[in-house]
Amino acid sequence: MASFKYFLTIFTVISIVELSFISRTAHSIPFVVFHGISDNCRHKGITQFTTLLSSWSGSKGYCIEIGNGAWDSWTMPFLKQTAIACEKIKNMSELSEGYNIVGLSQGNLVGRGVIEFCDGGPPVRNLISLGGPHAGIASVPLCGSATVCILVDVLIQFAIYSDFVQEHLAPASYIKIPTDIDAYREKCKFLPKLNNEIYKNSTYKKRFASLDNLVLIKFEHDEVLVPKETSWFWYYPDGSWEPLLPAQQTTLYIEDWIGLKTLDEAGKVKFVNVSGAHLEISYGDMKKYIVPYLVDSASAQSRISESSNLWLWSEHDEKRLNLYSSR
Ligand SMILES: *[C@@H]1O[C@H](CO)[C@@H](O)[C@H](O)[C@H]1NC(C)=O
Ligand SMILES: *[C@@H]1O[C@H](CO)[C@@H](O)[C@H](O)[C@H]1NC(C)=O
Ligand SMILES: *[C@@H]1O[C@H](CO)[C@@H](O)[C@H](O)[C@H]1NC(C)=O
Repeated sequence: MASFKYFLTIFTVISIVELSFISRTAHSIPFVVFHGISDNCRHKGITQFTTLLSSWSGSKGYCIEIGNGAWDSWTMPFLKQTAIACEKIKNMSELSEGYNIVGLSQGNLVGRGVIEFCDGGPPVRNLISLGGPHAGIASVPLCGSATVCILVDVLIQFAIYSDFVQEHLAPASYIKIPTDIDAYREKCKFLPKLNNEIYKNSTYKKRFASLDNLVLIKFEHDEVLVPKETSWFWYYPDGSWEPLLPAQQTTLYIEDWIGLKTLDEAGKVKFVNVSGAHLEISYGDMKKYIVPYLVDSASAQSRISESSNLWLWSEHDEKRLNLYSSR
């Protein structure tokens, strides 16, 4: 037993030395966080999330606010959110050598909008997506009791694909009702463009396909995203609520509209599922599935992800952050 403890100590010391060696030599690039709906970069959860990722990876992290936070996350159309994000990113000299994006829920669509649409922006290496509505959602997320929800409730009474709702309810930009595809294609202002569903812009595809890694984290007990598998690019076929198609069986993938197939065939897409509700993630899963991609250099990545599977950091790994704050 004593020798086991001795071994553990030695192992830990070696690992810590190795880790600090990695973080000093790896020239790790910074990362940015785009928060989810109803959230705000100043909220405690998101601050903690960014700080933890930063300290575990040794990389600088920035939460980028679009507009005023919670209210605008519900009401500002996505093309506008994306344009603002693009300008802010280009304004940050810290990001000019390239950076990673960590997207939370609808923040992933802002992130992808920046990757695909931001002309003249710095390169994005990895997109780590937590609960992203990538293929659309078939229902408006529950809003809760905040003031903005009175507005949201009123808007939901209107047709989702009316110009008025498209202009004033952000989630309407990515609602895709499978039995109302014509209206969606004609009126939905954001997701059809982001996913190259109608006009196929090869620049968007080229940019998205240039990612080093696309990490798609799905929450096993997600009740906010309908279907929760949209976080893996699964969706319903056009015209029907069933069956739910795995990403590889969707037209988006088969015809490779945005380069998802290209990335997948190159082994660059990681389909991860974690236990937990929407945006509820444990420290252990953050270390295992996010941190390795925030540490620059391939060798460091494999070493860190190996060591994070061991007992090394296990003390607080059961702790969970719940970043879905709309309730
Ligand atoms: C970017 O920087 C310019 C010049 O400092 C400033 O005028 C502009 O408001 C900034 N844009 C954003 C979106 O922060
Ligand atoms: C495709 O996207 C690029 C980059 O934003 C843009 O410059 C170009 O005009 C777009 N092409 C068309 C036909 O919309
Ligand atoms: C991933 O999903 C499968 C199928 O739903 C489930 O059986 C498995 O336990 C999940 N894994 C994790 C780590 O949550």
